[in-house]
Formats: sequence, structure tokens, C-alpha cells
Amino acid sequence: MAGNLRDRLLRRRRSLPAASGDERALDAQLELLNRLAAVAEYRDDDSGQHIYRVAWMSARLARGLGRSPDEVEELYVAAPLHDVGKVAVPDRILLKRGPLTSAEHMIMRTHTTVGGQMLASSSFPYVRTAATIALTHHERWDGQGYPRQVAGAAIPLQGRIVAVADVLDALVSRRPYKEPWPLDRALEEIESQRGKHFDPDIVDMLLAIISIEGLPPEIAAGGVRVAPPAPDTADWLSRFRETL
Ligand SMILES: [Fe+2]
Ligand SMILES: [Fe+2]
Repeated sequence: MAGNLRDRLLRRRRSLPAASGDERALDAQLELLNRLAAVAEYRDDDSGQHIYRVAWMSARLARGLGRSPDEVEELYVAAPLHDVGKVAVPDRILLKRGPLTSAEHMIMRTHTTVGGQMLASSSFPYVRTAATIALTHHERWDGQGYPRQVAGAAIPLQGRIVAVADVLDALVSRRPYKEPWPLDRALEEIESQRGKHFDPDIVDMLLAIISIEGLPPEIAAGGVRVAPPAPDTADWLSRFRETL
């Protein structure tokens, strides 16, 4: 099944002006994207699974919203990099257990622009998507987010989707500073931010998916591993295709 994704990505790659190389080169890119995401994840979350749960839920939301299979899979590949810019945030801020000062918040927020810059201007569409997500996943529908205070549909869809999936996973997960929230409470919180923090259509899709399917084990706190460790990219992709 993973071959289907590779074929599709290879076709797209061949359509690019600068495209060259073979299937192995494409696999290398996917693996490097996965490893790069893991760099950020290992600094921020000792479970190492948050980024994959966010990717899975983002892709599920995109599929529910009627996006094409290419877009859904591109989102799945790119979403794990949403916080890659945190590599530039000092440990004393990133790993601080108490509340951040406003100066520390300002530094923490730079992970969006740093991540966007790290990935920007790639010749590969999925890396450009990752740049978009890194830059926009903390924007808010009401324009009160960061770093650019973009509002509504001016925020790229991928960033709006990852915003919802990221917050849901943070709420239902154990973090150094909080216990996992029960699903009902997490969904109430997300619904209360419908049209404020989050795109209303994406909140509606999330609620519809969970009311019909329940919380997927892929994102349940302490649930199954969505992705194996970084090197097993092909397995990671085939697992995605089996579960979505
Ligand atoms: Fe973030
Ligand atoms: Fe996150």
C-alpha cells in the first residue's frame, strides 16, 4: 500500500521543473522528514508520539473535509513537522514546568517562524506544506493567534486543521504540567472555541467524526503507537493507509 503513495509522490515529483532522481531518493526524503520531526519531538515530549497522533488526526479531518487523497497524504507526511522550530527554543523555556513569563512566551512563539524558515522554499511540495503548517498552526480563526495574526480562510487550510488536531491531542494527553483531560471535556473546550480559535467547519468535522467513530485509538492517550521509530518510514506510511 505504501507503494501507492510513493508512486503518487513520484508522479508529482516528475511534474516539477527541477525534479530528478528515483524512488530511493524519494524514500530518503520521507525518512529525513520523519527524522527531522523526531528531533523536535524528542526535545518536547518524552512519549515521542504526539506528532504522529496529530498527523493522523489531521489527515482524518482532511479526508472528512473532502480533500483529495494527495492532499490528505501530504498533510500526513508534513504535519509531524509542525513544531520543528522548537529546536531553536532554549531548554530552560521549552522544558520549564511552571508558567512562562511574557518574555519567555515571546521566545516560545518564535518556533513558528523558525520552523517556517527552516522548511521554506523547498522544491518539494510536501516540504513546502510542512513550512506552511509550521508557520500557521498557532494562528487563530479570529485573528488573535501568532505569529502574523492572520484570520479566517486567509489561514492556510493545513494550518487550520493541524491547529485543531494539535490542541485536541494536547488536551487528552498527559503532559509534565497536566493530567489528561477526559474526552468529553476536551471536546467541550474545542467546541467553545468554534469560530474563535478554530475554523467552525473543522470543529464540526471533528465532532462528527468522534460522535460516529469515537476517539480513534490512534490518538487516545497511551493508545497504540501510530508510527514506529523514524527509520521505518514505509511501515509508518502503510500503517497510515490501513488506519485512515
Ligand atoms: Fe506549535
Ligand atoms: Fe504539537
